[in-house]
Amino acid sequence: MQNKFLGIWIIGASGSVATSVVAGAELLAQRLIEPIGLITEIPEFSEIIFVPFTQMVFGGHEVRPRTSKESFRELSEELHINHQLIERVCPYLDAFQKNIRLGTTIGCGKGVEEAVGGTSQLDTLPLPEIVHQMEKDITDFKKLNHLEQVVVLNLASTEPPIKLGVHTETIKGFEESIRNNHKEVVRASCLYAYVAFRCGCPYINFTPSAGASIPALLEMAKQRNLSHAGQDGKTGETLIKAVLGSMFKYRALKILSWQGYNILGNMDGKVLTDPETLQSKLIAKNTVLPQVLGYKPHTHIGIDYVPSLGEWKVAWDFIHFEGFLGTKMSMQFIWQGCDSMLAVPLVLDLIRLVELSARRKESGALGHLGLFFKQPLGTPPSTHPSDGCWVGDLHHQWHHLESYLEQVKKTSYKE
Ligand SMILES: NC(=O)c1ccc[n+]([C@@H]2O[C@H](COP(=O)([O-])OP(=O)(O)OC[C@H]3O[C@@H](n4cnc5c(N)ncnc54)[C@H](O)[C@@H]3O)[C@@H](O)[C@H]2O)c1
Repeated sequence: MQNKFLGIWIIGASGSVATSVVAGAELLAQRLIEPIGLITEIPEFSEIIFVPFTQMVFGGHEVRPRTSKESFRELSEELHINHQLIERVCPYLDAFQKNIRLGTTIGCGKGVEEAVGGTSQLDTLPLPEIVHQMEKDITDFKKLNHLEQVVVLNLASTEPPIKLGVHTETIKGFEESIRNNHKEVVRASCLYAYVAFRCGCPYINFTPSAGASIPALLEMAKQRNLSHAGQDGKTGETLIKAVLGSMFKYRALKILSWQGYNILGNMDGKVLTDPETLQSKLIAKNTVLPQVLGYKPHTHIGIDYVPSLGEWKVAWDFIHFEGFLGTKMSMQFIWQGCDSMLAVPLVLDLIRLVELSARRKESGALGHLGLFFKQPLGTPPSTHPSDGCWVGDLHHQWHHLESYLEQVKKTSYKE
């Protein structure tokens, strides 16, 4: 791996998670912090060569004028991060800033437009030119930095769900909508995924936006032998749901209702105040329980924006269940997490695991990465339906990843 560099092209480059990922990778590269929360750093997988943090170069698309350094400073103040650490990463955030280009807000909806202060200037161009420009941004980044491989990573604000039609079904239909400048049917996340595949890049979707999940782009990834992973990182309340749901299943206790209320105060929360955009998050969050339990109990998910909370998100969940002789019982939990700090280790692991898949020439949706996502792509339907092992079960997902990595060790694919 010596003298090779991995480029990471981040969509939503000045966001909280994006800037924390870039700063975190640099602090890890300089060995100034511990790799807490990273699966790729645990002793069990130490024989596998994952791309070192010292070999990562970052660039990306953004639609707000604010710089990544401004975002990171604001976040660091809120989280009381050590000043010396902040100063150590500032030069790297400046270098990152030089690699940031203007992105598109086509199809992002009111939630994003209000949060980012309008639509992108790039959107005044016809779709084929927007695609061409974004493709050029990535290829220039690759050339200028002499990169062997670039991974595209979606960390942009959530968009409303995409309406399905001929433009989502086949590559031909999707490309026709671009050629005919049908801006009303496409979504920015799909355009970014399309551009990633055209540039020969694997793609990670950490958001609930459609990205590469539409049939047209699933097909395109396979045709071009490119891998991708998604969607919507499983970092907080939904992670606990995946574990607790398994507990109820393993004890054959029937869940009657699961009510979950979330409050958060950052820009991600602000974007979700738009009812259409909120639907994308609700769909992702609602995927987990039926995939863990094998049935769908009554559920409700509430998400409210509470500005004073900033990066801190709080979830209160009430679970009503039935025990022996039909006795009704309940459990409740409260989860309080720091949004970006929960996300960063997952994103860094995903970058390394997707880069590994590219070295191994894997293609299509990477089902073994279901552990990381609320709405996992590419996981086969239940492998053991008879013994009730469902794809959303966190243990099942962990074993899937573990057996994949055991296989990597056996084939001793190192370089
Ligand atoms: N724990 C977590 O933080 C977590 C967990 C799961 C999913 N996510 C998802 O990750 C994403 C990022 O979260 P965040 O907290 O960093 O949000 P954020 O609001 O801080 O950052 C989003 C960034 O994307 C930019 N952006 C918006 N639309 C864009 C577009 N079309 N093209 C380019 N840039 C665009 C915004 O200007 C902003 O800088 C969100 O979609 C969120 O739902 C986060």
